[in-house]
Amino acid sequence: MGIFQTAVAKVSRVDMSNISPLLQLLLLLWTTLLAGTVSASARYNVVMVIFDDLRPALGVYGDSLARTPHLDAFAQGSSYFTRAYSQQALCAPSRNSLLTGRRPDTLHLYDFYSYWRSFVGNFTTLPQYFKEHGYYTYSCGKVFHPGLSSNNSDDYPLSWSAPAFRPRTEQFMNSPVCPDHGGSVLRKNYLICPVQLQTQPYKTLPDIESVSEALRFIDSRKRSRQPYFLAVGFHKPHINFRFPRQFLGRFPLAPFYNYTEDAVKPPDMPDVAWNPYTDVRSRDDFKHKNISFPYGPISRQQAAQIRQAYYASVAYVDDLFGKLMARLDLERTVVVVLGDHGWSLGEHAEWAKYSNFEVALRVPLIIRSPEFPLIQPRPMHSITELLDVFPTLVDLAHLPPLPACNRSSSALEQLTCSEGKSLYPLLQGLGLAEEHVAISQYPRPGMLPTKHPNSDKPKLRNIKIMGYSLRTNYYRYTLWVRFHAHNFSRDWQNIYGEELYDHRLDSGEEFNLAALPEFNAIRQHLRCRLIEAVG
Ligand SMILES: *[C@@H]1O[C@H](CO)[C@@H](O)[C@H](O)[C@H]1NC(C)=O
Ligand SMILES: *[C@@H]1O[C@H](CO)[C@@H](O)[C@H](O)[C@H]1NC(C)=O
Ligand SMILES: *[C@@H]1O[C@H](CO)[C@@H](O)[C@H](O)[C@H]1NC(C)=O
Repeated sequence: MGIFQTAVAKVSRVDMSNISPLLQLLLLLWTTLLAGTVSASARYNVVMVIFDDLRPALGVYGDSLARTPHLDAFAQGSSYFTRAYSQQALCAPSRNSLLTGRRPDTLHLYDFYSYWRSFVGNFTTLPQYFKEHGYYTYSCGKVFHPGLSSNNSDDYPLSWSAPAFRPRTEQFMNSPVCPDHGGSVLRKNYLICPVQLQTQPYKTLPDIESVSEALRFIDSRKRSRQPYFLAVGFHKPHINFRFPRQFLGRFPLAPFYNYTEDAVKPPDMPDVAWNPYTDVRSRDDFKHKNISFPYGPISRQQAAQIRQAYYASVAYVDDLFGKLMARLDLERTVVVVLGDHGWSLGEHAEWAKYSNFEVALRVPLIIRSPEFPLIQPRPMHSITELLDVFPTLVDLAHLPPLPACNRSSSALEQLTCSEGKSLYPLLQGLGLAEEHVAISQYPRPGMLPTKHPNSDKPKLRNIKIMGYSLRTNYYRYTLWVRFHAHNFSRDWQNIYGEELYDHRLDSGEEFNLAALPEFNAIRQHLRCRLIEAVG
């Protein structure tokens, strides 16, 4: 480690709260200068790891049921954000937002069926920005959501230097390849699907394929002087829970029965907030259970089994993550690890994503840079959004900073900008200029949960209501309003539901306070703040 880096690292650990503003400013100038010096000598590689549907069910996040030794070891030298939020709890909108630095409202994407370059604007993506600044960029596995939303090409060639790698076994994601009860006949499309690899198509699984390809890529770049940006997208723990069966053995079932204290549907929750977890119900091991639509419940036994399989899936990808990290030179590589959104595991009797609740929106976000060497995990409690990742990585790589997007209508003409904020000052040990909040959203086709159209994932033409959710330090405030899909406008006066949860007393979001007169003032305040932020 160079002397400058040591100095930067030391300064970044100083507690700024006890230092006079003038001295703070001098320190800031000094660290900025030093950071410039560092960048001239070192062009870090950048590796972004995305886990599909991963909530912070990790040891480093304090989850005692998790078995994630590799992610925990990685976090030893990292900053981990305890309150990071996705922009929408659905893969394609969340990923396109993360990768373009724009909100779902800007991309006009709330489902899976449009490509921003042809639908809205020719916006520069995160990998594209690195590519345009001399990086070799490569995508392994599920990074962009496949299909129309990335032009059936993972946005190649604009984002990537070579065609994106997709594992060939990805095609079996929804195929009947789970062993029947007790037998080895593969004919079920189960939600819970521990397997023996040799029974699977090509005797492997998608994430195993993606990691071997990532390792091959890392080795192939060893002799090159050109830095690289590598994105690795794991398919698990997204359902179905298909993973090598030995991982199940690490998780006795008993602790998963009383997993959450918040296991009932919030009594004052508006119906529009509910997602009826249609994807869980449709699997072969659930569809004959007559789970009452839309509110359930799922039996206690099955609830425990789903949680167990989720944790086993996480342990499986943690193991693969360890193989990836072992091959990287962490002295020369910036690494960011994140989930694209959360997943409800029976909190308030909900399952899956598809909502504006904390469990569906909160994600792990772990950042490690050789510029800020740490010897233990550093928790960061500021509220952050996945939108912040793009400008943060740009700053960590010391590329020209990304401008903030204009808030006017001309924003669509600004092709290279970000709607998020760089977390670089936080990583330097400085505070953010203002209190940070997170804005997320979720669309619905109507006020009540429905199968047709599927209210968990309505298509654009069926969207009638948009729920906007504001997360502040203490509160989650959600407002469901009329949305006009033909011109992407919303009517704030036309309200279908309102929710207010106080996280100091109710981290499970069980008690909707929106109707209580005592909370009128704060509710009004948060409503104004939300409307102002969404614009
Ligand atoms: C979009 O932007 C890329 C990169 O800046 C450029 O090469 C391409 O021609 C643009 N496409 C359109 C349709 O303007
Ligand atoms: C999107 O895909 C179509 C069909 O393959 C292709 O013609 C078009 O150039 C692609 N758009 C971009 C921006 O790459
Ligand atoms: C589910 O409902 C169907 C039709 O109402 C009935 O035939 C079946 O026996 C029920 N299954 C269970 C497991 O209760």
